[in-house]
Amino acid sequence: MKYEEALSLLKKNSQEHILAHWKKLSASSRKALLEQIEAIDFKAVKRCQNVLSGKETVNAKKGKPIAPKVAELKGAARNKAIAAGEDELRNGRVAVLLVAGGQGSRLGFDGPKGAYSIGPITGAPLFAFHARKVLALSIRYATSIPFYVMTSEANYEATVEHFEENDYYGIPQDDVIFFKQGMWPAMTNDGKIVMDQIDHIFMSPDGHGGVISALKSTGCFADMRKRGIKSVFFFQVDNPLVEVADPAFIGYHVLNNSEYSLKLCAKREPTEGLGMVVKRDGHFDIIEYTEMTDEMNNRRTKNGELYFKYGSPAIHVFDRAFLEREASKAMPLHLAHKKIQYVNEKGEVVKPDAPNAYKFEKFIFDSLSDAKSVACMAFDRAEEFSPVKNAQGKDSPATCQADLQAKWRRQLKEAGITFPENMPIEIDPVYALDALDIKNTGIFLDCGI
Ligand code: UD1
Repeated sequence: MKYEEALSLLKKNSQEHILAHWKKLSASSRKALLEQIEAIDFKAVKRCQNVLSGKETVNAKKGKPIAPKVAELKGAARNKAIAAGEDELRNGRVAVLLVAGGQGSRLGFDGPKGAYSIGPITGAPLFAFHARKVLALSIRYATSIPFYVMTSEANYEATVEHFEENDYYGIPQDDVIFFKQGMWPAMTNDGKIVMDQIDHIFMSPDGHGGVISALKSTGCFADMRKRGIKSVFFFQVDNPLVEVADPAFIGYHVLNNSEYSLKLCAKREPTEGLGMVVKRDGHFDIIEYTEMTDEMNNRRTKNGELYFKYGSPAIHVFDRAFLEREASKAMPLHLAHKKIQYVNEKGEVVKPDAPNAYKFEKFIFDSLSDAKSVACMAFDRAEEFSPVKNAQGKDSPATCQADLQAKWRRQLKEAGITFPENMPIEIDPVYALDALDIKNTGIFLDCGI
């Protein structure tokens, strides 16, 4: 793109301030800036401006939210679901999809969050637990399970390098597919795109909802179709307890002909930061925790239980065809008011003390209300959910490691092995995914415990 073309495009979109310092730029800075301008999706920019000015409403959904029915699978129903899920896995119809575009900033970790060390003994990173579960399942069901990993522009190279250095954790390289999510500019209140340097436009990832358009634009949907994938297991990077592609969940999804299935767990306390699944006007929906009112958080049933009891840890199974259908739709945009470094009219870089600009993000769960069939399944959080979100306190590495070890300890006990209380434990998923595997491999007995 040439300077004149860029200027006319920017004028058309009221963004000519982007070229305000052109005269001061070196040849290479000019080239890079023109490339950035060319890559911007100005249709999306227009939508962001409409959201800011209130012409487009972020959450236009109406209707009184009610708590949905959530299945607690037990006994024969659970066994039936497991059989259906195992069939789906054995026949190679399941893909695993990890959204890993976030940085470990809340943990004070400089790198892809998946590279954060969590193994209580080996220090294995979050990615290791996820990838080794994919490998363990592909061995157990003698099949190939493609593992799609979404990164942002910022952590793509570090993520790919991490997997290369670790030999893809044993998964055949062709079955680990990395792809990048989209990036969007940020805006000030008046709809102007933020420059963070005189020659650079500030860009940020378009949220985990960006996974749907990215799966399309990067050819991953086509790859899934070629592989005969029908069910897509979706999860977030921060939870090493997750039961990746749990056969009971996959089976429950398949048996219900569901387009979008959710695993849900009882909230720890009324204000826990979990999205809440609700039904309104006959459609399912998730209300993000930041949008729940005090009254909704604390409402009780006659039995004293929380009325909105089940939160979503973002563990889903999607019908692949549903996701492809959603890719042709524009998802709602959510605003996040942030402190973003900017360049003032004089060309000076300013680091603001208070939020000065908006980032725009898409959330995967906004597609929920479009699903023709939805299945909600309860799970025991002690077994499957202990995310690493904060450096200290709740949902920190310390609580997560304690929860991981408590889970392994329960599995060992179920397998008939009493493990000394104060001895640290770590089990590689490829050795054992559950108590039955522990019994069958007998490795703990071999080492004399
Ligand atoms: C999220 C959910 C919340 C859920 C909770 C469970 C949102 C807005 N909220 O909160 O409903 O109950 O987790 O733990 O999602 N990611 C990308 N690209 C992005 C942004 C995020 O890939 O542009 C990925 C992250 O790497 C991570 C996941 O999405 O795997 C969640 O992002 P995060 O910012 O950690 O969400 P939370 O606020 O913790």
